[in-house]
Amino acid sequence: MLYLSIKALHIIFVISWFAGLFYLPRLFVNHAMVTDKATVERLALMESKLYRFMTPLGILAVGLGMWLWFGFGLAGGWLHAKTALVTLLIAYHLYCGRLIRAFADGRNTRSHVWYRFFNEVPVLVLFVVVFLVVLKPF
Ligand code: HEM
Repeated sequence: MLYLSIKALHIIFVISWFAGLFYLPRLFVNHAMVTDKATVERLALMESKLYRFMTPLGILAVGLGMWLWFGFGLAGGWLHAKTALVTLLIAYHLYCGRLIRAFADGRNTRSHVWYRFFNEVPVLVLFVVVFLVVLKPF
């Protein structure tokens, strides 16, 4: 019962974290396209608020995953591959934090096209991670 409750919480916080991982880069796409001061300031505010909201969700998603792994003695190559991909997601999350500061300081050099491709990274990782954890192929 405890195991399944933790797994349910894990999936809930993974979904919530991904809401931010999908939406924040979309704000960057818009931010890279606009020049008027009012819109630039509003996007900067939305980005920093979203980042403050999604960071604890990511910490809870990963923390509960670690609890499942180490608390219940799971093992398997799928878990190592999954953790490697999640480490990439954490790096992506932290890089988004740097991009927020770059936009706020007027130091952004990337185009909205670049951010459209950047926005697809979490989608690809999500597909691979969910197939890994459900199928456990190795
Ligand atoms: C380092 C971070 C993470 C660790 C250590 C971890 C570990 C685990 C473990 C041990 C399970 C239980 C597997 C089972 O009961 O069969 C699990 C379930 C799951 N994890 Fe994670 N996880 C992490 C992050 C994530 C992320 C970022 C995602 C989404 C992209 C994710 C998606 C899932 C899903 C969908 C399940 C349910 C699988 C099922 O019920 O068959 N996890 N995770």
